Amino acid sequence: MSDTLVAEESKVSEAEESKPLRPTDAEAAEIDRKSRFWRSEEPGWIWVGSEEHKRLFCRMLLETHNPYKPAVMDWPKLEPEALKRITSLPIWDIAVQTEGRAQLRVHAYAKRVRDPLLHEAMIMDGGEEERHKVVLSKLVEAYGIPLAPEPIYQMPKDIEWGWLVTGYSECIDSFFAFGLFEAAKRTGYFPEELVETFEPVMQEEARHILFFANWIAWHRRQLSWWRRIAFELKVARVWAFLIWERIGIARGLDNGGEMQDANFTLTGHQQIGIDLNLSELLELCLAEDWRRLDGYDSRLLRPTFMPKIARLVRRFLR
Ligand SMILES: [Fe+2]
Ligand SMILES: [Fe+2]
Repeated sequence: MSDTLVAEESKVSEAEESKPLRPTDAEAAEIDRKSRFWRSEEPGWIWVGSEEHKRLFCRMLLETHNPYKPAVMDWPKLEPEALKRITSLPIWDIAVQTEGRAQLRVHAYAKRVRDPLLHEAMIMDGGEEERHKVVLSKLVEAYGIPLAPEPIYQMPKDIEWGWLVTGYSECIDSFFAFGLFEAAKRTGYFPEELVETFEPVMQEEARHILFFANWIAWHRRQLSWWRRIAFELKVARVWAFLIWERIGIARGLDNGGEMQDANFTLTGHQQIGIDLNLSELLELCLAEDWRRLDGYDSRLLRPTFMPKIARLVRRFLR
């Protein structure tokens, strides 16, 4: 595993911060294992929507946090061809902006959460999004990738809407990203060192979608019937927005840059030149989605929407 990870975050002093420690290979492997495999000590069956359920998904996120520091990441010198491939990928603007928006929206929703454990977990989630943005900006800087000027991120008036859009977007995009990342790794499209650098970020997104899928199931059960109806209507609007965004109807209508490259998740395999047909790509996405989530407590709900859609589409492709 990468030597870009550090073992301890919380007690690092200011002086040490400027020269962060790198973990040994054994420490890095242990940190990696802990971020991927987790089971709660809590025994027995756990009801969705219960206090135990909330403890389960919050603890999962908190206890599997990988304390790597973007400041000590290595950005290996790339061969000219690899450098050209990486810098010409049309994803960097949308990636930086997505992380910028995500951290703002997750933190905004976290501030409204009164439950201390859920609040702590959501602050962790938002902090990880913030760190993704730092990782990306370091990469962009290291390889001289030209970026469009970042927009001023606007907070949606409806804070819950922002959190739901971020959560569901991650469920869609991560599903495809897992498969594309694996394909790029197998074909060598991404140099090995970069794969290692991004691996913890990918696993973090897996934890985020697992957290979100459980949070939403838990949250639904906290609502009275009339609040529940309003909530389901909002979820339907969020999905309509995300579908509209992704099929590119909005292309050309957007002024703020939000939609730029938004359908990369659907066309990404063509754009990065990976020779896979859609059926093979979906197969890989399903396998990777399963692999990345398999190490967590089996009592946690898994995000099911994208896997179901992928299986359905695959049936028609046969
Ligand atoms: Fe992220
Ligand atoms: Fe995330």
